[in-house]
Amino acid sequence: MVASLSLPRIMRVGRGAAEELGNVIAGLGLSRPLLVTDAYLVGSGAAERLAAALLKAGLSPRLFSDTVPDPTTDSLAPGLKALHDHEADSVIGFGGGSPMDTAKALALLGVQGGHMRDYKAPRVNLGPALPVIAVPTTAGSGSEATQFTVITDSGTDEKMLCLGPAFLPIAAVVDVELTMSMPSRLTADTGIDALTHAVEAYVSRKANPFSDGLALTAIGTIGRHLRPAYTDGSDVRAREAMMLAATQAGIAFSNSSVALVHGMSRPIGAHFHVAHGLSNAMLFPAVTAFSVHAAPGRYADCARALGAATATDADEVATGKLVDALRGLCHDLDVPTPRAHGIDQEAWTRLTPLMAEQALASGSPANNPAVPTADQIQDLYAGIYG
Ligand SMILES: [Fe+2]
Repeated sequence: MVASLSLPRIMRVGRGAAEELGNVIAGLGLSRPLLVTDAYLVGSGAAERLAAALLKAGLSPRLFSDTVPDPTTDSLAPGLKALHDHEADSVIGFGGGSPMDTAKALALLGVQGGHMRDYKAPRVNLGPALPVIAVPTTAGSGSEATQFTVITDSGTDEKMLCLGPAFLPIAAVVDVELTMSMPSRLTADTGIDALTHAVEAYVSRKANPFSDGLALTAIGTIGRHLRPAYTDGSDVRAREAMMLAATQAGIAFSNSSVALVHGMSRPIGAHFHVAHGLSNAMLFPAVTAFSVHAAPGRYADCARALGAATATDADEVATGKLVDALRGLCHDLDVPTPRAHGIDQEAWTRLTPLMAEQALASGSPANNPAVPTADQIQDLYAGIYG
């Protein structure tokens, strides 16, 4: 098998890396970036500090901070106007997954126009698009290193997966300092998202030796450092480890794929506005229990990497321990069931057939070791409600 691999051309990873952002952009011959971020990072002063550093590096940035969590097609319009008004030659995605995904969508629409639904999966978008520079402020989405963006269609509430090299940042600047102020809930949700990326990349039917190594490394790191980062946000060592693992997991799944957890998670986010990592977490143990029989060796490797099983455990034992470990992790990170999260049971039941249909349509379940039917997906949704 020939693996098709793509990574950001330039990466700066480590404490203080954000100070190099201006030089990275100038070094690419770019000078008029649109700095795409959110209201929180404006309020905290982080966006202003970054903009000032860009000015100091001789660049002419313009700030656009009206991104929304789980970006919608409607939310892109003012960003596109800002992009054109500024005559931007590049787009900086500064924030968690949502600002970075917004930046990627703007970079494509700014050149090609049209509507985001024209670009959704299974279409592979080669470009052209403006260059994107990604600066994550959470340790989770991995979007800084992936060729994916997820945009919700405002007309249908569908969370559309859009993919292709056009969405791969040309540069990623990964600085742990930017994650130090994350509240514990965000730390947990984004951390579980990163773990899901790593496990799904490893068990995916699109896995390859390149993605495997990064996925297993990330699983081990997250197994050791997610709980400490959650319980003590000032633990720099844990934060730093999580930041690196999230980027490694991003590279892994961008060069493999995600699978059934993500396929089922997007419709929950779209219909019930549950944070992405949290809806992954609600699904992760049950979907893993459903899937392990189809690839026991691969899931056993994940269990051992996570520290949940030993080298001498038989695969069938190790896979059981993996499911137990994921349940334990969700418990320790205070992950609620959909019921406990306040989702109405009648709405959950009514929307289940549509969610199953949308999960399958995204293509992600087809990469799962056990490819589910629509009925099996509906059963999984029913089983996790709580
Ligand atoms: Fe994710």
